[in-house]
Amino acid sequence: MRVLAIESSCDESAVAVLDEERGLLSHELYSQVDLHRLYGGVVPELASRDHVQRLLPLVRQALASAATTTAQLSAVAYTAGPGLVGALLTGAALGRSLAYALGVPAVAVHHLEGHLLAPLLEDRAPPFPHLALLVSGGHTMLVVVRGLGQYEILGETRDDAAGEAFDKTAKLLGLPYPGGPELARLAEQGRSGVFDFPRPMLDRAGFEFSFSGLKTAVMLAVRAQPADKPMDDSRRADIARGVQDAIVETLAGKTARALDATGIRHLVVAGGVGANRALRTALQAAVAKRGGEIYFPRPEFCTDNAAMIAVAGLARLKAGSAARDLAIESRAQWPLTSLSQ
Ligand code: KG4
Ligand code: ZN
Repeated sequence: MRVLAIESSCDESAVAVLDEERGLLSHELYSQVDLHRLYGGVVPELASRDHVQRLLPLVRQALASAATTTAQLSAVAYTAGPGLVGALLTGAALGRSLAYALGVPAVAVHHLEGHLLAPLLEDRAPPFPHLALLVSGGHTMLVVVRGLGQYEILGETRDDAAGEAFDKTAKLLGLPYPGGPELARLAEQGRSGVFDFPRPMLDRAGFEFSFSGLKTAVMLAVRAQPADKPMDDSRRADIARGVQDAIVETLAGKTARALDATGIRHLVVAGGVGANRALRTALQAAVAKRGGEIYFPRPEFCTDNAAMIAVAGLARLKAGSAARDLAIESRAQWPLTSLSQ
């Protein structure tokens, strides 16, 4: 079986071709980051319009670099949600129509299931059951993954996602958009402990997160700077380090607690924030201490991409969950726990 997959849930237009036996044959991505930079965040309507222009050329490119003709495709998978509804609709309409025209099944993929299954793209794939820390711009959750569609959410964020906390505090520090990777870069030059920001919910039992207080703490630190004395680079780096330390320590602390509570020894780190080096190091240490194994997708498969949608799409196709009607599915909200095997 060979699947073409389309991702358009936010600000990346992406297409990939995955073969059941030969693995990933191609993956193409166009990031709209330059388009949204001017506004300091993703503008949904602009994102949708840009997807419309980018997706078809990306489909052609992905097929060409996979040396695949449309006649060789067994199915078309597309991200059906959750995400920006207009952006989703562009990929969903294209994916569903293409499948109809080719007379092959269409598979509506859950974006977070894509993130969760991204480690299966790597040579060393995690066994089931495993614990997954899913940390992206829109989600922060600890999930026990027992198999395809068997997801038990141990805890989620009550407010901002970890990626959102990186992005919003980066904005307060005047860093260019998108802030997360910029803040991480600056944090490497800063000193630990100069700014001691709160570790939200770390002292509380359970697996829930809350990152919105961090924004306020950083805002106060920025405001404490006298107006006639602009903040210098080293102070900005110390704040960035303080923010990163607080987020990383909270995520790693709760993850360690979940490993202990479940007795699971295999940890998967998924989602855009999984590209953060300090987080990787902290989680690696927590897992090593418990004699476990850690699995990361490579950084380009941590952030949004179509390869992960192809993996989830193929798994769903094999499990018999291809669409039975011609509906173009696009859902802004779609709880992960509503999925079944
Ligand atoms: O998974 P993703 O690409 O998109 C969503 O589905 O949300 O995640 C994007 C998020 C953004 O908030 C971005 O700032 C964050 O991941 N991110 C990072 C790093 N790279 C991406 N945050 C911290 N450090 C990084 N190196
Ligand atoms: Zn994502």
